[in-house]
Amino acid sequence: MRPSRPRGWYPLRSAALTRSYSGSSHQLPPWRPVSALDEWVERPIRPISLRQLTFFGRTLTEPRLISSANYVRTELPTRLAHRLRDIQQLPYVVVSNPHLSLVYELYYKAFEKFRVVPEICSLDDNDRLCDVLREMLKEHLVVIPNLAMGVLECRELVPPDEMDRFMNTLLRARISRRVIAEQHLALTETFNSPWHFPDSHERTDMNADFVGEVFLKCNAKEVVERCGQVAQDLMSQSSDSTKIPAITVKGHLEATFPYILSHLEYIVGELLRNSVQAVIEKYQHVAGPPPPIEVLICETPQHVIMRISDQGGGIPREILPYLWSFSKGPRTQTRLENLGQVPAMAATMQELQVSQERKHAGRDPFHEGSLDTLTSRPPNLRLGMGLPMSRVYAEYWAGSLELHSLEGYGVDAFLQISKLGNKNEQVTTRASIDAV
Ligand SMILES: Nc1ncnc2c1ncn2[C@@H]1O[C@H](COP(=O)(O)OP(=O)(O)OP(=O)(O)O)[C@@H](O)[C@H]1O
Ligand SMILES: [Mg+2]
Repeated sequence: MRPSRPRGWYPLRSAALTRSYSGSSHQLPPWRPVSALDEWVERPIRPISLRQLTFFGRTLTEPRLISSANYVRTELPTRLAHRLRDIQQLPYVVVSNPHLSLVYELYYKAFEKFRVVPEICSLDDNDRLCDVLREMLKEHLVVIPNLAMGVLECRELVPPDEMDRFMNTLLRARISRRVIAEQHLALTETFNSPWHFPDSHERTDMNADFVGEVFLKCNAKEVVERCGQVAQDLMSQSSDSTKIPAITVKGHLEATFPYILSHLEYIVGELLRNSVQAVIEKYQHVAGPPPPIEVLICETPQHVIMRISDQGGGIPREILPYLWSFSKGPRTQTRLENLGQVPAMAATMQELQVSQERKHAGRDPFHEGSLDTLTSRPPNLRLGMGLPMSRVYAEYWAGSLELHSLEGYGVDAFLQISKLGNKNEQVTTRASIDAV
């Protein structure tokens, strides 16, 4: 049986967590009982659906905003508590990894901060809560690269499948917390916008394209075109290649559905980026224009399905079994080295815009979001994160992502989106984690 931390105990922020584990130190960490965490871990999380997010924000009155604030105030520490407990239950050598312990400390700090926020009763209270939310979103930008590095560094210590499950759970939970936080910030902004029905008691705009962070009229074709352009520009700027493939879109071009735009842009952006890169590499020394990347959009009553087909030669055979893994595969060393450069990028390029007031009316749907650094990183900085992260995002709103590689020819990626948005977010519950 692997060693695990006793329930209800956690190491104080001390040498025990900050030193890297070499096995040479025999100093035991100081422990102390923490009843607050135990208590919060007992609380169930309350999943939400895109439809709930939307309906809730549509008739935005002061009491509704306050009740959204109180949902955030209790839901975030609950969700954080569950993840803290997951980390505590990792073997000690793993949780002592400097990258993972940094994540643990960030989560603990956020948990401690949120759990003592008193009930929100007024708009002033809400403003204070929003400040805490913004701070957390900013501080936690370093979480993904640190988690990824920690998981890779600990690959010898925990079975890889278990590590991947852990990573998936943490990432999904992280998405969920950011959705909740960003949605509330966006609703608060909407409520405070002077141009948004200033004289109306009920600040409702039935024609608004956004409700908080949810874009009601996500159009798959437009997303493909925008993300394709970004991928093409990035490649032409960073390589001398003139062999940038064209991107064609056909099928149900009018299909629209409610979705959090930054999530869809991230997935589609990563898929197109891989395809563009593969085609450029395959055709760099071949005369004539490279074959286009073909995107097909198919709308059914329940779903929107996107198929992205390229002729970039398919996925290398040695990579294929590890495509969806965060922790294993032949390129772990390069990935680690590349990831080491990402936290620095996060500080400069990934400045969140949450503190800035967004113009609701003329808001640019392709706004900067928390995924931007990952999207605009240089192409040669391959992190091996694009596909596994995209799948986490796709599955979060009850969708799916699959890849079929035709060796020597190309790749077909299938992204399925739940169109009606009435599925709950897919967060892992304590019960299923305990079963792992
Ligand atoms: N369309 C594709 N054609 C050929 N190979 C692909 C394709 N998509 C992915 N691959 C292969 O799978 C690997 C993993 O892809 P993934 O997007 O997860 O990570 P990455 O592209 O290496 O790094 P990152 O996306 O984090 O920058 C790629 O390095 C590439 O070798
Ligand atoms: Mg990629």
